[in-house]
Amino acid sequence: MEKFVIRGGKKLSGRVAVSGAKNSSLALMPATLLTSGISKIYNVPEVNDIYTMIKLMEHLGANIKFENNTVQIDTTNIISQVAPYEHVKKMRASIYVLGPLLSRFGYAKVSMPGGCAWGPRPINLHLEAMKKLGASIDIDEGYVIAKANKLTGAKIHFDIPSVGATGNTLMAAVLAKGTTVISNAAIEPEITLLAEYLQLMGARISGIGTTVIEIEGVDELKPSEIFNIPDRIEAGTLLLAGAITRSNIELSNVIKEHLESVLIKIEESGAKLSYDNGIIKINAENLNIKNIDVTTAVFPGFPTDMQAQWIAYMSLAEGTSKVTDTIYPDRFNHVPELNRLGANIEVINNSAVVKGVKKLKGAKVMSTDLRASASLVLAGLAAENVTEVLRIYHLDRGYQRIEEKLKALGADIERVPTEEY
Ligand code: EPZ
Repeated sequence: MEKFVIRGGKKLSGRVAVSGAKNSSLALMPATLLTSGISKIYNVPEVNDIYTMIKLMEHLGANIKFENNTVQIDTTNIISQVAPYEHVKKMRASIYVLGPLLSRFGYAKVSMPGGCAWGPRPINLHLEAMKKLGASIDIDEGYVIAKANKLTGAKIHFDIPSVGATGNTLMAAVLAKGTTVISNAAIEPEITLLAEYLQLMGARISGIGTTVIEIEGVDELKPSEIFNIPDRIEAGTLLLAGAITRSNIELSNVIKEHLESVLIKIEESGAKLSYDNGIIKINAENLNIKNIDVTTAVFPGFPTDMQAQWIAYMSLAEGTSKVTDTIYPDRFNHVPELNRLGANIEVINNSAVVKGVKKLKGAKVMSTDLRASASLVLAGLAAENVTEVLRIYHLDRGYQRIEEKLKALGADIERVPTEEY
């Protein structure tokens, strides 16, 4: 096991590059299962979730090379359409193999994803969409068993613009017979990129980037290559590292339009931002952090994946702020840990009421999930004395060696082995 030891209060400075996006990679990789041959995806972050997806796809028969942030996937010999529990339990995004396997092979047996640290995460929208496309769906001993001789196009409306369900349905519809129209589709940048990749493979898709996507099924797709987008959540997290430590830092490899809602809230809190083709600069020197309320929403709203980090930032604001999560009402496991650092936060239903305090004091805290652990690191950077963040395997799921980026910016943070759990 490893932990972070952070000596807080250091000013940050300098520039770091944002890595490729985790969540788009977790959709682009299974999309290659729709083809037979060698596909390439550039700018993939070296994070544990990517290795989990690699192991799952190798189990199916794919031959994968991952070096220098490039994933090369040979899907010529897919010998299995079964995604077993031991793989799926590690990562919910494993459900993304359902659509491609069903679409290309007419059969998929995928373990139901478990819940996660903050509660149940259903897949009903995925399964209803597959049924609408003509698949039979059975649930047996914790597995989804999907069968279809040939999927046929359909009109599919999502009550919730689910990112995963939109991605899975896109990948199921591209080889279906006839036309599929998805309405109330998710428009997160990761879904837009997935649709563009499918187009590069030969899929016929219109309405990309809008909530109504039309897919004209084709008989076959061919392998292709794509350059992945930067990780908007890592970018937002690193910007808040600058803001919470009242520093001036710069980030390269950022697409401003992908995190507009976060940038606006950071400016409302009093920090100054400037942009210069792909570089974002934040000036938070001598910042008195203003208390700014946030309510998460689907893109282009404030992302739920930045909610924990925002709460950490608001814990040092002048005044009280309210942070509401409309996507995951229970995603507040970071709050008790932040309170151990001296924050004053109360969770009421799906909101955290954050009473700003003058300072945070270092302590031993425990990560519970990916973004919760990011919020504890941010708080540790600003807290006095030493903060130890345990169970950082959660953090390694979605951030490529974040301590090296923070150290490059001047933070005093070390990754050390520990027996503590
Ligand atoms: C994606 O998860 C992301 N993961 C999550 O990021 C992110 O938090 C989430 O989208 C919301 O933006 C990946 O892209 C790999 P959803 P996903 O389906 O697709 C409900 C991170 O930290 N829902 O858009 O699972 C669901 O319960 C991770 O990087 C159903 O009810 O999210 C939730 O309330 C965490 N039925 C809402 O929709 C379904 O069938 C949004 O979920 C599917 C979802």
